[in-house]
Amino acid sequence: MLNITVLVSGGGTNLQALIDAQKSGTIKNGRIKCVISSRESAYALERARKNNIEAKVVSRKSFKTPDDFDHALLSELKQAETDLVVLAGFLSILGAGVLCEYENRIINIHPSLIPSFCGPGFYGLHVHEEVLKYGVKVTGATVHFVSKVVDGGAIIAQKAVEVKQDDTPEILQRRVMEQAEWKLLPYAVSLFCDGRIQVKDGRTIIKY
Ligand code: GRF
Repeated sequence: MLNITVLVSGGGTNLQALIDAQKSGTIKNGRIKCVISSRESAYALERARKNNIEAKVVSRKSFKTPDDFDHALLSELKQAETDLVVLAGFLSILGAGVLCEYENRIINIHPSLIPSFCGPGFYGLHVHEEVLKYGVKVTGATVHFVSKVVDGGAIIAQKAVEVKQDDTPEILQRRVMEQAEWKLLPYAVSLFCDGRIQVKDGRTIIKY
């Protein structure tokens, strides 16, 4: 059984999808042992506590340097005996210490089809605003490993979602979450926990 630590900053609907997947048995070989938020006020913390999951706050602002933040986060991950780190709407940048220690063991969910609408500055509602501004007819979500390059690590799974004529960023965000993110993230986590993902030459190979 792998220990999963989920890093969050906001509402935590993706965290909820993971909790539900664990309860329903979709994720069999992993359990969420700890939730760490970069913000004290994140509702995701409440979701963790309601489900008897250890909930902590490690805020970038409370450390002098990015390195201090990196060390603190790494020490919390180790304390929780973390095997897999899941970024579920985590808005702080991970430092070299965490990235190195957990290479190919950090999974992120991004609300677009990478390599479109991703990279520095593309987070939250802004991604969907840009999708609508460009006028693409299909968007979606991507689950990928985290590397030094923002949104640039090996892709694990993607799901397409239709963009509709009258969409607002909020409506589109909701559709991408419902149709893609909340299914894709538990699926990728279960693949990882079952030992079915291999990374070779910067790409993933899934064992079916
Ligand atoms: C999601 O859209 C996720 O793709 C992005 O941040 C958002 C987090 O939402 N990285 P929630 O906190 O899981 O509800």
